[in-house]
Amino acid sequence: MAKRIVKEVSLTQYEANELDQVTLELIEAAKKAALNAYSPYSNFQVGAALLLDNGKTISGNNQENACYPAGLCAERVAFFSAKSQYPDCQIMKVAIVAKPANQEQFKMATPCGSCRQVMSEYENNQEQSIKVYLPDADGSVYESDSIDNFLPFKFSNKDLNS
Ligand code: THU
Repeated sequence: MAKRIVKEVSLTQYEANELDQVTLELIEAAKKAALNAYSPYSNFQVGAALLLDNGKTISGNNQENACYPAGLCAERVAFFSAKSQYPDCQIMKVAIVAKPANQEQFKMATPCGSCRQVMSEYENNQEQSIKVYLPDADGSVYESDSIDNFLPFKFSNKDLNS
């Protein structure tokens, strides 16, 4: 028997003043989207903003429902919106932010499992990996080079075809 580290996750932590303007604007777009979340049941506001290779920014927020499972997370709203409007686009970056509705401050939240699977599908099918930006409450921002970091041992279309 042997215990092995098969996959390590490496994130880069930036101070806000170390990030480029485009990324800072993407984070602001995610924050703006979060403030428009429809989340009367959880009172938890999530925003996601995507930068596409055509220069467009597409954002989304969580949309809840009295029938709870019918709601959708911010990340999937944003990814589905981007790929439905621009089916041939490459997604370069995504910024994800969250906060309780009754608090001013945003806090770091990582995507749920279903959103990881959906984001991974699009990353697998495009030429470039998608960078992920997660601002933390202290003002620093975590960057991941790829969705892959959030979904080790993923299930993908490669599994279906083998
Ligand atoms: N939520 C997201 O929008 N994204 C996630 O990755 C995790 C959770 C939403 C779903 C629900 O509206 C609220 O946050 C509380 O779970």
